[in-house]
Amino acid sequence: MNAPVVAPSLLAANHGEFLQGLRTIEAAELAWVHLDIMDGHFVPNISFGPQVVADLRPQSKLFFDVHLMLTNPDRFVDAFVKAGANRLTVHVEADHDVAKTIAAIKNAGLSAGIAMNPDADPRRLLPYLDSVDLVLCMTVFPGFGGQAFIPAALESIKFLDLERRQRGLNYRLEVDGGINATTGKQCRDAGADTLVAGTAFFKAADCKAFASSLSA
Ligand code: DX5
Ligand code: ZN
Repeated sequence: MNAPVVAPSLLAANHGEFLQGLRTIEAAELAWVHLDIMDGHFVPNISFGPQVVADLRPQSKLFFDVHLMLTNPDRFVDAFVKAGANRLTVHVEADHDVAKTIAAIKNAGLSAGIAMNPDADPRRLLPYLDSVDLVLCMTVFPGFGGQAFIPAALESIKFLDLERRQRGLNYRLEVDGGINATTGKQCRDAGADTLVAGTAFFKAADCKAFASSLSA
């Protein structure tokens, strides 16, 4: 069993003050930051790129959990390795040779993750489960923060948790999108151990108390 981790998404912080966003996460005594990279093509929004990640890197010891929402993630692995990412998670729906991209990430010495959209069949991930460190089950359609949690994703989480136990694997099972105290508990009960929270974390009256309640 992996210890629960809460990874706040910087997407929900003020984009003119990312450094302050990192400080808010550190003040909540969390160890990870989730960085959402969007290309305006794989998803209908643009966020920020490797330069922002590279400039934040020397400012913090947080684990950089980088979620690539890119049509061609394979073309950007090197840039995010150089930028100082700790993990790169790529989508199974993107236009690339998934196994090859995962191998490139691992060969660079980084942790690798595979992500799926909420409407994907989780069986699509089966060929990759024994080669990744993390499986990301999206609980909204990626592109924007602040969307409502899609309960149907709970079935995929349960499937991926069962698969993990039956095969004796130990990848982290991460959820992302619409996570708050209620939906976070539903995901934990379904087997998720890693909770991304953007809006609910940065808008919380007490960020530290909110994060502690999610990982309790
Ligand atoms: C959605 C992103 C999420 C998002 C989560 O495309 O992958 O990480 O920032 O934000 P909230 O918690 O606001 O749904
Ligand atoms: Zn994300």
